[in-house]
Amino acid sequence: MRATPVPEFMLEPAFNPNSDAGTSREAVGLGSAAAKGLDVRHGTILTLEGINVSFDGFKALTDLNLYIGVGELRCIIGPNGAGKTTMMDVITGKTRPDNGHAYFGETLDLTQMSEVEIAQSGIGRKFQKPTVFEALSVFENLELALKTNKSVWASLRAKLSGEQKARIDEVLATIKLESSRQRPAGLLSHGQKQFLEIGMLLVQDPQLLLLDEPVAGMTDAETEFTAELFKSLARKHSLMVVEHDMGFVGSIADHVTVLHQGSVLAEGSLAQVQADERVIEVYLGR
Ligand SMILES: Nc1ncnc2c1ncn2[C@@H]1O[C@H](COP(=O)(O)OP(=O)(O)OP(=O)(O)O)[C@@H](O)[C@H]1O
Ligand SMILES: [Mg+2]
Repeated sequence: MRATPVPEFMLEPAFNPNSDAGTSREAVGLGSAAAKGLDVRHGTILTLEGINVSFDGFKALTDLNLYIGVGELRCIIGPNGAGKTTMMDVITGKTRPDNGHAYFGETLDLTQMSEVEIAQSGIGRKFQKPTVFEALSVFENLELALKTNKSVWASLRAKLSGEQKARIDEVLATIKLESSRQRPAGLLSHGQKQFLEIGMLLVQDPQLLLLDEPVAGMTDAETEFTAELFKSLARKHSLMVVEHDMGFVGSIADHVTVLHQGSVLAEGSLAQVQADERVIEVYLGR
């Protein structure tokens, strides 16, 4: 049952879909170098085509087309209820589309893979609320994330290889938690927990990272650090970042997709989409 009321903008007449929106494959890919073991010969790491999702007759995604290039840092913006989180649910196998194509690289059909298979194939997702193990240390949290195929206790007992230790140290430096490595995660600030959770994704070296509202609840300094972090991750990884904080989006994005009513309304630089009258009407002008 849907308890959420339909937002006002959804009751407005449908807008003309932008004929260019969501159809450009060449925009920001960096070639086929960054991804390993994944077939990205056309420079596209993620392909969503004609995706439809409905919940009890309510269409959350409507003929959605979206392409992410290898090494790209893409920001997704759009009003509440636009379908941003649902799109991530489709990519990670949590929600199955009614129809449409969802491919990771050229050959992995995400609609046919389990959530676990999708995660193991190299798609990491961070939810809004941090889900770290509060009683365990920062280091142990990263250790667990690295050894996902074992139970908690089996993982903590199994010895780390030198390579695995080095990887954790590298990630600790990336997320600036080196000096907190032995602290229980429950004692970290909200922002630090978010960084730890990003670190838990990074130890697995995913090729595509999905980040849903990563800076919500962060201080200005933490938001700035997140921007630097994401910029440093791009190219080596591909990132899809959903965020409402336009200052943050402006500081990281070279390419922005605006979702509205389950479809792409506009795509381009932040300046381009901010100047788009339909975008102003449904989102930015509120
Ligand atoms: N499991 C579900 N069952 C029923 N309706 C759902 C379900 N998941 C999402 N919806 C509806 O689908 C629409 C899209 O939701 P979604 O969470 O994807 O939006 P969003 O763009 O992430 O919004 P926000 O910016 O508020 O996070 C909303 O109207 C939501 O109520
Ligand atoms: Mg959402």
